Amino acid sequence: MPEWRDVCELAALSDTGSAGFAVGEGDWPLPGFVVRHGDKLRAYENRCPHAGHRLDWVPGRFLDRNRQHIMCASHGAVFEPLSGVCVGGPCPGAQLKSLPVRCTPDGQVQVDVEGWSWNRS
Ligand code: FES
Repeated sequence: MPEWRDVCELAALSDTGSAGFAVGEGDWPLPGFVVRHGDKLRAYENRCPHAGHRLDWVPGRFLDRNRQHIMCASHGAVFEPLSGVCVGGPCPGAQLKSLPVRCTPDGQVQVDVEGWSWNRS
């Protein structure tokens, strides 16, 4: 059963924009982010497949200077925004963990967090 959570307003994302969010309470909420690329939305866990660090060097800033790729601040891994696949840096071919995302008719971006947890097999 999907568990849709509001994460941001679509209007808060430019045509190639990103925004971070966290799900859960306490000291270790689950960090994620959404990326808008034209008319497409994607959501990913904010965890780099290279060494497990958060990707954003400034909270909420996930895109490179040209806003064409997602970039990890730690060691410079570069990811395609629509697939989450690493195309440059230390982990080529590795993939960000994606989350189901949608936009409601009133412009609310939502992510399905059902089954998303720190426990990974
Ligand atoms: S942790 Fe992201 S490139 Fe190393």
